[in-house]
Amino acid sequence: METLLKLDNLRTVFDTAEGTARVVDGVSFEIAPDEAVGLVGESGCGKSMTALSIMRLVTSPPGRIDGGSIMFEGKDLLALPEKEMRRVRGNKISIVFQEPLTSLNPVFTCGEQVREAIALHQKLSRSDSKAKAIEMLRLVRIPDPEKRYGAYPHQMSGGMRQRVMIAMALSCEPRLLLADEPTSALDVSVQGQIIELLRELQERMHMAVLLITHDLAVVAQMASRVLVMYAGVIVEEAPVGALFQKPAHPYTEGLLGSIARLGRSGGRLATIPGSVPDPFRLPPGCRFSDRCPKRFEKCFAAEPPLIDLSPGRRARCWLCGG
Ligand SMILES: Nc1ncnc2c1ncn2[C@@H]1O[C@H](COP(=O)(O)OP(=O)(O)O)[C@@H](O)[C@H]1O
Ligand SMILES: [Mg+2]
Repeated sequence: METLLKLDNLRTVFDTAEGTARVVDGVSFEIAPDEAVGLVGESGCGKSMTALSIMRLVTSPPGRIDGGSIMFEGKDLLALPEKEMRRVRGNKISIVFQEPLTSLNPVFTCGEQVREAIALHQKLSRSDSKAKAIEMLRLVRIPDPEKRYGAYPHQMSGGMRQRVMIAMALSCEPRLLLADEPTSALDVSVQGQIIELLRELQERMHMAVLLITHDLAVVAQMASRVLVMYAGVIVEEAPVGALFQKPAHPYTEGLLGSIARLGRSGGRLATIPGSVPDPFRLPPGCRFSDRCPKRFEKCFAAEPPLIDLSPGRRARCWLCGG
């Protein structure tokens, strides 16, 4: 497999009064160019911290990247001088967040903000950058983009604002898009449209996407491969079809169960009993052991490694061998 991004044993910590919280605790994975990979897990598992680490945007202090490497196009991003990292950010790697209203500046028009994102990375005249901004608004299917160029963020719906954010993120034609819960703040009907747009743009622009979400149903719409994260570690990795057909880790099973129930109960959120452990209070052994319906003695004694099951499939569970 050709590799665009390769994380090896990434560790990100927070220094707090209570001690050091290991929120990303030895994460390794690869993404090929053109590939859409899902990163799923409940809130608090370390997904956003993984994305922010890739961008080197972890707020420091209290956050800190404590080890590992992040190879992108053959260079370790963790070793780049900040000046070079700025060229990577928003140029080769872009990020879209959950909340478009807080990411957009309320006092400038949406079009101006897209134009500025373009002007930041490309030497274009004002009229050329405006034309390119309108072209980007059209690309993300904002109706009547010449007119909507002059709309302020509050004059647009949540879905339209997220399209503006996507236009900004893609204006530099990145090789990799990190989409962190891009649809979580939107109505369910709009969520599907945004994911469909991302899927289409991913193909058309030949970029790689890391789609971060707590919702496996969103992953199924777009990603070809899934990484399941729990309490700072990857607990399962699989092609999307295989994962849905036969999850290897009980945590993945739990996540799948919650989307199945969601369908049956007409939208009521169902969850796995218990909650993601506080990084200071990880249970001994397997991090999921206190919530796992299939736990046995060994699970409390030692943390399972990521066990290779078949090419492209791994799971961190004693039931899988080891
Ligand atoms: N500023 C901070 N100080 C201490 N801990 C933090 C800080 N920001 C996030 N965390 C912790 O890092 C962990 C991972 O958070 P995050 O990556 O945002 O999770 P996710 O995106 O999967 O919901 C959580 O336990 C969270 O409480
Ligand atoms: Mg998050």
